[in-house]
Amino acid sequence: MKKLLIYYSLTGNCDYVAEVMRKFPQTATEKLLVEKQPPLKGLGKFLHGGKSALLKEDPGLKPIKADPSDYDEIVLCYPVWAGTCPPAINAFVKRYSLKGKRLFIIAASASGNGNKSIEQLRKALNQCEFAGSLNLINPAARKEETVRKLAEVFTEE
Ligand SMILES: Cc1cc2nc3c(=O)[nH]c(=O)nc-3n(C[C@H](O)[C@H](O)[C@H](O)COP(=O)(O)O)c2cc1C
Repeated sequence: MKKLLIYYSLTGNCDYVAEVMRKFPQTATEKLLVEKQPPLKGLGKFLHGGKSALLKEDPGLKPIKADPSDYDEIVLCYPVWAGTCPPAINAFVKRYSLKGKRLFIIAASASGNGNKSIEQLRKALNQCEFAGSLNLINPAARKEETVRKLAEVFTEE
């Protein structure tokens, strides 16, 4: 089963998920890059980022190098912004067809509750075969727990 992890990260937590996932067999990773990002620090990070997520703003997604059609399973990993998905993920889902793929969703958040965003993505991607989801709390700040949870899911298959 060839997997492609597609992820977005503003402050490094989902970068850490990708670092761990790259060690698993048959798993490639690709980071989504965008033209428009919120500032990395201060209140502006939450205000701009939260607004852009709620309004589903177009972030100017840059083309990705990988071809999702080459993979059996797509794993989407993103930070929860204002309870929902960040614009980079929405833009990816809109631009690339994942029809018929297995889909796994990893939501990273400060609270550990990304369920609303996971449900939204599931609905938007109802032509995928849903394989499961994981809620992680700031994964780069809880490395041991992150590695354990990812290994439980991705080394069992
Ligand atoms: C704009 C913005 C909005 C956020 N909104 C939420 C939220 O609604 N709920 C939550 O639990 N965490 C929220 N967070 C925290 C992030 O989801 C969390 O820190 C995540 O691990 C960050 O991932 P990253 O470092 O890969 O960007 C928010 C962070 C930002 C920057």
